[in-house]
Amino acid sequence: MEKYDRKKFIRKSGGVLAATALVPGVVFSKGALGTANTLNIALVGCRSMGFWILNHALNQPDVVCAALCDVDQNVLERRAGEIEKNFGQKPRLFSDYRKLLEEKDIDAVIIGTPDHWHCLIAVDAMAAGKHVYVEKPMAKTVAECEIMVKASHKYGKKVQVGQQQRSRAHWGEIVKMVQDGKFGKIRTIKTWGNFGYGLGPEKRPDASVPEGVDYNMWLGPSPERPFNPSRFHGSWRFFWDYGGGLLTDWGAHLLDIPLWAMGIDGPPKSVSTVGGIFSGENRDLDMADTQTVIYEFEDFNMTWDHAGGLGVGPYDRNYGVAFVGNNGTAVVNRQGWQIYPEYDGDTPKIEPEKFVWESGDEGHFDHVANFINAIREGETLNCPVEAGNMAAFYSNIGNIAYRSGSTLKWNESGNLIDAGKFSEFITPEYRSPWKLPVI
Ligand SMILES: NC(=O)c1ccc[n+]([C@@H]2O[C@H](COP(=O)([O-])OP(=O)(O)OC[C@H]3O[C@@H](n4cnc5c(N)ncnc54)[C@H](O)[C@@H]3O)[C@@H](O)[C@H]2O)c1
Repeated sequence: MEKYDRKKFIRKSGGVLAATALVPGVVFSKGALGTANTLNIALVGCRSMGFWILNHALNQPDVVCAALCDVDQNVLERRAGEIEKNFGQKPRLFSDYRKLLEEKDIDAVIIGTPDHWHCLIAVDAMAAGKHVYVEKPMAKTVAECEIMVKASHKYGKKVQVGQQQRSRAHWGEIVKMVQDGKFGKIRTIKTWGNFGYGLGPEKRPDASVPEGVDYNMWLGPSPERPFNPSRFHGSWRFFWDYGGGLLTDWGAHLLDIPLWAMGIDGPPKSVSTVGGIFSGENRDLDMADTQTVIYEFEDFNMTWDHAGGLGVGPYDRNYGVAFVGNNGTAVVNRQGWQIYPEYDGDTPKIEPEKFVWESGDEGHFDHVANFINAIREGETLNCPVEAGNMAAFYSNIGNIAYRSGSTLKWNESGNLIDAGKFSEFITPEYRSPWKLPVI
């Protein structure tokens, strides 16, 4: 039995691994500002993830932070100060992204807002001629994702979705092993994510809007309601108006891997789910803190499972993906991968192997590098809109099954049966004056 040769794999792999030739975490010295090669980048939504993506971008050669935008002045000023201190750059500051998009010299926009804004800002940015790095999930509804795919084709802009695993080599290694048949016929794929924060925020009373926050602009297309700190920075993801809970937060990352490995580019035969708020904690969240989703395919099963508040999970990992095949099971997460063989008597059908990713960036740096190389040199994007769309789709339909209390089924042509029954979850109603983009 041939032993799996990691070095050989990396040498042989093109495409998805090409960007990993850049060493993660290396800080490049910056070229002179304003050279012909300068890429002007802007960030909309500066508090957390978007800002770290921006930092990775500014650590690439000749990338300049042209502008920052946030509806919270406190965040905006703090982040502007950090950019000046760490990079010696003074970005223009905006509280309305539409004004930022009018700036002609901006080449690309990073979108680090909550999910309910992704579609609108991404489409407006593309229409304004900007390339887009949009965080995952690509959007919080099926219809918005489809609009983003259409927009990327219409405007011909580069759109990278923030599923950074696609740029971290060891995930691609497992994908290739699955595709090469190393594990034999894949019969079940398990994905799961148990995280402490998945309990949702504490229940808190409505409050006055913090000073410096344009709350109306934070809400944007989502329904009007009084300000509540539990529904705001960071914890918005536990409310249907803004996000999709653990299933979209982590499902967009982890369901992406089997979709990639199995080459899935359409709906399953069906999706069903069970779950509820079972933790017993008095928390504020719309979705289930404990949930299992079953995706039915012709000749294999796929599941998603989460239990917010817990830190233990299958195969001794609190989150991950397991490909279960006739020859063995491959388990992968950000820490590495492990292969558990099946046995013929005492003989393992495949080598028990393990790869531990001991340190370094989880893929963000290379993912951003790939985006910038795609803009500059036409490098293939590791996570284009089609891949972002599929991962968001599988996350979103699990939530639709939960919210509707129904099993969703697709016919052989890939059309959702009784689609009208689910339309309120598929297509969001935007609060006036915001309008769902029409492409
Ligand atoms: N790729 C990853 O591993 C990863 C990790 C964490 C979060 N994310 C994604 O990043 C996105 C942001 O999540 P977060 O945890 O950083 O959220 P956050 O709440 O910490 O930050 C969001 C920021 O966006 C700002 N904002 C809201 N509406 C805005 C608007 N219309 N214009 C400008 N700014 C606006 C908020 O004021 C806030 O500063 C989400 O889509 C999330 O799913 C990805």
